[in-house]
Amino acid sequence: MDKFVIHGGNKISGFIEVSGAKNASLALMPASLLASGTSILYGTPELNDVFTMMKLLNHLGVETDFQNHILKLNTENIISQDAPYEHVKKMRASVYVLGPLLTRFGTAKVSLPGGCAWGPRPINLHIEGLKKMGAEIDLAEGYIIAKSKKLNGAKINFDISSVGATGNILMAAVLAKGTTIINNAAMEPEISNLAEFLSKMGAKISGINTSSLEIEGVDELKPVEINTIPDRIEAGTLLIAAAITKGEITLENFSSKYCEAILAKLESSGCQIIVDDQKIHLKSSADEIHPSDVTTAIYPGFPTDMQAQWTAYMSLADGASTVTDTIYLDRFKHVPELVRLGANITVNENIAVIKGTKKLLGAKVMSTDLRASASLVLAGLAAEGTTEVLRVYHLDRGYQRIEEKLRSLGADIERVEGKEY
Ligand code: EPU
Repeated sequence: MDKFVIHGGNKISGFIEVSGAKNASLALMPASLLASGTSILYGTPELNDVFTMMKLLNHLGVETDFQNHILKLNTENIISQDAPYEHVKKMRASVYVLGPLLTRFGTAKVSLPGGCAWGPRPINLHIEGLKKMGAEIDLAEGYIIAKSKKLNGAKINFDISSVGATGNILMAAVLAKGTTIINNAAMEPEISNLAEFLSKMGAKISGINTSSLEIEGVDELKPVEINTIPDRIEAGTLLIAAAITKGEITLENFSSKYCEAILAKLESSGCQIIVDDQKIHLKSSADEIHPSDVTTAIYPGFPTDMQAQWTAYMSLADGASTVTDTIYLDRFKHVPELVRLGANITVNENIAVIKGTKKLLGAKVMSTDLRASASLVLAGLAAEGTTEVLRVYHLDRGYQRIEEKLRSLGADIERVEGKEY
């Protein structure tokens, strides 16, 4: 378990490329199961969650070759439709194999993901959707056991817009018999990336980028190549790294369309933003950080995956602000750790009230989940003195060597390898 040692106070400044999106890769990789042959995913980030998905796919019989962000997935010899607990417990997105396995092979056994670090994350919508398409599903001994001759198209109206359920049903529907309509579908760019991949494979999907997807099932799909979209959460995290340290950053190969809500909030906090074709330039506020309230929402709203980082940023604002998470009501594990650094934050139900302080002071803090860890790194970059962020394996799940990126932008941050952190 490695830790980061950060000597705070350096400005984050410079140019940086954004890596491929974790949450796009985690959907594209299992989607390769839908066709026999070799699909190629360009721009795949080198992250632990990607390696976890690779191991799961290897277990199913997929041969993988991953070099220089090019991931080749050969699905010609699938030998199992069983996603065991040891793979799924590491990463909830493993449940993405359910739809593709069931629709292509008529059977799937996938471990139930269980809770996550900050509370319950049910998958009832995935299961109900597949049942509506004719799947027989039993939950036994911690597993989802699904069977179906051929899935049928169905009209599925999600009560809640869910990224994972939309992805799973979409992948199931492309090989189902007849037409599936998904209403209240997630519109996150990672879902559009998945839909684009499936379309290239030969799927018939209309309504991409909208909340209503119509899928006409086809008999067979072919393996293809696709570019992974850049990671809007990594982009947002790097922008805040510059904003919180009073620096100036340019994100290259990144379109502002993926993060309009984040950019709007950064502007309201006093940053200057210049958007060019595939570039975003941020110059931090010349004076104090203005407090700015945030409420998370489904895309294109402010992402829950940026909530912790925003909370860290606002802890240094010139006044009070609130952060309300409407997607995950309990996602505040970072707050007690930020308080250890001197932040003044109280949480009441799903609302954090942040009273900005003049400075944070370095301390030892503990990572509890991916985005919480990112918020601690951001706070550490701005804090006076030394911050140690323990258990950075959470960060390694979703950020590609973030410490190297930050160091190239001027941060004094190093990884210390060790067992006891
Ligand atoms: N929900 C249900 N039932 C379901 C599915 C979801 O009630 O069957 C609820 C959830 O409890 C939550 C809301 O619906 O309140 C949205 O959850 P969603 O299903 O959209 O989340 P997810 O697919 O499990 C993905 C990302 C998360 C991100 C959320 C929300 C991936 C692999 N994960 O999760 O990413 O927070 O969407 O945008 O795409 C992260 O990267 O740090 C991360 C946690």
